[in-house]
Amino acid sequence: MAIKTLRDMDFSGKKIMVRVDFNVPVKDGKVMNDVRIRKTIPTFQELLHLGATQLILLSHLGRPKEGYDSKLSLKPVAEHCAKLLGQEVAFVGNDFYQDIAEEYLPDAKVVMLENLRFHPGEKKNDAGFAEQLASLADVYVDDAFAAMHRAHASIVGVPRHLPGCIGLLVQEELAALQKLLKPRTPYYAIIGGAKEDKMEAVENLMHFVDKILIGGVLGSTFLKAKGVNIQSSKYDAESLETARRLLKEYGNRLLLPVDVVAAEKFDASAKHKNVPVNNIPDNWMIMDIGEKTREVYARQLQDAKTIVWCGPIGVFEFPHFAEGTNALGEVMDKLTKQGCFTVVGGGESSYALEKFSKSHDSTGGGATLDFIQGKKLPGLGALE
Ligand code: 3PG
Repeated sequence: MAIKTLRDMDFSGKKIMVRVDFNVPVKDGKVMNDVRIRKTIPTFQELLHLGATQLILLSHLGRPKEGYDSKLSLKPVAEHCAKLLGQEVAFVGNDFYQDIAEEYLPDAKVVMLENLRFHPGEKKNDAGFAEQLASLADVYVDDAFAAMHRAHASIVGVPRHLPGCIGLLVQEELAALQKLLKPRTPYYAIIGGAKEDKMEAVENLMHFVDKILIGGVLGSTFLKAKGVNIQSSKYDAESLETARRLLKEYGNRLLLPVDVVAAEKFDASAKHKNVPVNNIPDNWMIMDIGEKTREVYARQLQDAKTIVWCGPIGVFEFPHFAEGTNALGEVMDKLTKQGCFTVVGGGESSYALEKFSKSHDSTGGGATLDFIQGKKLPGLGALE
């Protein structure tokens, strides 16, 4: 069954629960990158324009271990959202989760609940929690593309109780990312990043892409699997076996660094140098791809018709280690202008590659990776 969009629903005189993904970097109470917030504003404006009486915004932030954690409160995010929207966003604190009831919601046009993950029911997809949330509204809108790969209460539980549809951000994501399921070729993926969970994606993507250019923690994992002494570099121990198998099966389609920028420690001003991968000094760590690798990767990308990029290729937040990401960013910029279809996925990547042109800047990290592997996202399934 087709998924409904805003155009298929009636919002007039209704309370709308909008699941957003405001999992954005917050430092000292300040939002450091607001792309995910900015991209949902048109949905809020449209819902208000279509006569919604109240918007109840739901989101998670980070991965709280258990219960409330002031560092992961959504309060500063609500304040930032209010500025972008140009109207009050009434924030509802954590106490609300003790006794969820409509009468405790402020009487404001736009309200935002505290971080959903402070409630144990969210990640467990607790049926009772989902029902309580749903009781607050008349209609459900999912505009949290970046969280649609999570089968959590606010994503798959709430729409069991309310008529639902996707918001404008999700609609735009689907239109763009669908093109990656039938890509123009050659189609290359660039996969990097600091998270250790991308091996499965590499394996599945081999069915879609011609080649994968690898960096970040994934690069260290593959190098280790190949027998390189990566010294103190971070890697994913659990994926070594799979990495070895993938190298055997797809070796010539997986491009690995031949040299790297290694540093004495994980620090912006650490002593560092460009070395061949077999020559990393004792106890140093890989921070970026090296000069030769940059050249090899740039050359490989030249004939691309489609590129997807998930995860910065080095520790871009430290200027000394951003050169790999910037060099390939320039190549992507040029190719985009020449008509290559380019997609950047994930908050970190979109931050790192902000200044370079791309065809689509996806808000999703894991969700985008799952989608382009042809996996069904639970958040979409729940709305079918
Ligand atoms: C993301 O940033 O990729 C999404 O918000 C999902 O976050 P999670 O990986 O903590 O579920």
